[in-house]
Amino acid sequence: MHDFKYKRNELYCESVSIGRLAKKYGTPLYVYSRKTFLDHYRKLEDAFRSVRPIICYSVKANSSIAILRTLVKKGAGLDIVSGGELFRALKAGASPRKIVYASVGKTEQEIEYAIKSNILLFNVESLAELCAIDRIARRLRKRQSVAIRVNPNVRAKTHRYITTGHKQNKFGIDIDTARDIFLNRREFRNLDISGVHLHIGSQIVDAKPFIRAIEKLVRFVKDLGSRGIQVKWFNIGGGLGIIYSGERPQTAQEYAKAILPLLKRLDSRIILEPGRFIAGNAGVLVAKVLYIKEAPGKNFAIVDTAMNDLVRPSLYEAFHEILPVASKPYKGSGKIRKYDIVGPVCESGDFLGKDRKFIGLNHGDFLAVMSAGAYGYSMASNYNSRPRPTEVLVEGNRARLITRRETYSDLIRAEV
Ligand code: LLP
Repeated sequence: MHDFKYKRNELYCESVSIGRLAKKYGTPLYVYSRKTFLDHYRKLEDAFRSVRPIICYSVKANSSIAILRTLVKKGAGLDIVSGGELFRALKAGASPRKIVYASVGKTEQEIEYAIKSNILLFNVESLAELCAIDRIARRLRKRQSVAIRVNPNVRAKTHRYITTGHKQNKFGIDIDTARDIFLNRREFRNLDISGVHLHIGSQIVDAKPFIRAIEKLVRFVKDLGSRGIQVKWFNIGGGLGIIYSGERPQTAQEYAKAILPLLKRLDSRIILEPGRFIAGNAGVLVAKVLYIKEAPGKNFAIVDTAMNDLVRPSLYEAFHEILPVASKPYKGSGKIRKYDIVGPVCESGDFLGKDRKFIGLNHGDFLAVMSAGAYGYSMASNYNSRPRPTEVLVEGNRARLITRRETYSDLIRAEV
C-alpha cells in the first residue's frame, strides 16, 4: 500500500502533483510520502503490539535525516551499520538507548564512538570483534551491552546478494561458537552479553525461512535459560519483502501471527529492524526523457536518471515499475511501444527498466520509477561525476525539500 495514485490522469504523491514537483525541483528527483512511511511503521507496531517491541528502523534503507526524524518522533529506534549512520542517527534526535549496531567490520574508531554515545547494543558478528569491543570498553572504563548475531544457517529465498543467514555468508556467528561465548561470558569483563540477533536476508516474501531461523534461536535461548543464562534482548532483524510487481509478500499481521507464538515462549524483549518494509513503497524516483532512440529491433528512452541515482536494476536486476507521470499507464489497449529505459552512464548495465510498454514516449516526458524509497538514494553515488539527486518529502498538500541537488563543487569538496 502506498500513497502514489493517479488523479485526473496525473500521478500524485498524497495531494501533490509529481509533475509539478519535477518542474519545480528538476530531475532526477526522489519524492517521498510521509504518510506511507508512517503507515508502514504503524502496521508493524500494531501487529506486534502484544510484545511491545523496539522497532529499530534500518537506517541503510533510507538515511535522510528528515526521514529518520519522522520515524524517531513516532518512537522508532534505529539499526545502524557504521559510524556515519550513528552520526546521522544522533543528528536525527534518536535516543542512543534505542540504537543497535550491526556490521562485520566495525573499526576501532567506530566502536569507540558508539560506546561513548551510549548505544543500546552492538550486534556482534565474530569472536574477534567481541574481544575488540571488550578491550575498547575497558580502555574507556565503560561497560557495554552486546547481542550475539547468530548465523542460523537457513536459506532465504531472495537474490543471492542479499541473503545473510546461510553459513556461506559472512554474517553472524555459528550457533556452537555463540553457545560457547554465552557459557564463557564472564571472561569478557567489560561486556554484558545480554542479547541475540538474527537477520537472514532482505526482500523475503514468505514467512517460512523466518520461522525456521527464529525456531532455532528460540531453542538456543531456551537451552541457555536452562543453564541459568538469561537473554534479555531477542532481535529478529528485518527482511520483510514488499510488492515491486507481482510479489505476494506476507503482511505485517501474517508475519506477526506466524512468529508471535514462538516469541511469546521467551522472557526477552523483542527488537525488529525493518528497512524496506517501511521505506520501499514510500518513495519514487522521477526521471525526464532526454531522447528517444529507435535502433533496429530496439527502442531506447534515454533519461536523465541513471544507475548512480538508483543502482538496484543494475546491481540485482531488480524490477521497478516505471509509470508515466502525466498520463495513465498502458493498460492493454491502443498502439503501444516497448522501450528500454536507460540512463546516460557509460555502462551497458545502466538501465532502469527493459522492454517496458508505453503508449508512446516523447522528449520531456516525466517517468516515475516506483518503489524507490528503500536502497535508492542511500545507495546513490557520484559515478561519472554525476551530482546526487534532490529529495522531497510530501505531507498532505505540502512538499518540503529535504536534500538539495548536489552541485559540481560538492563533487570535489573532499579533494585536496
Ligand atoms: N538489519 C540488518 C542487520 C541488515 O543488514 C539489514 C539489511 C536490515 C536489518 C534491513 O533489511 P530490510 O528490512 O530492509 O530487508 N541493497 C539491497 C538490500 C540490502 C539489505 C542489507 N541489510 C537491495 O537494494 O535490495
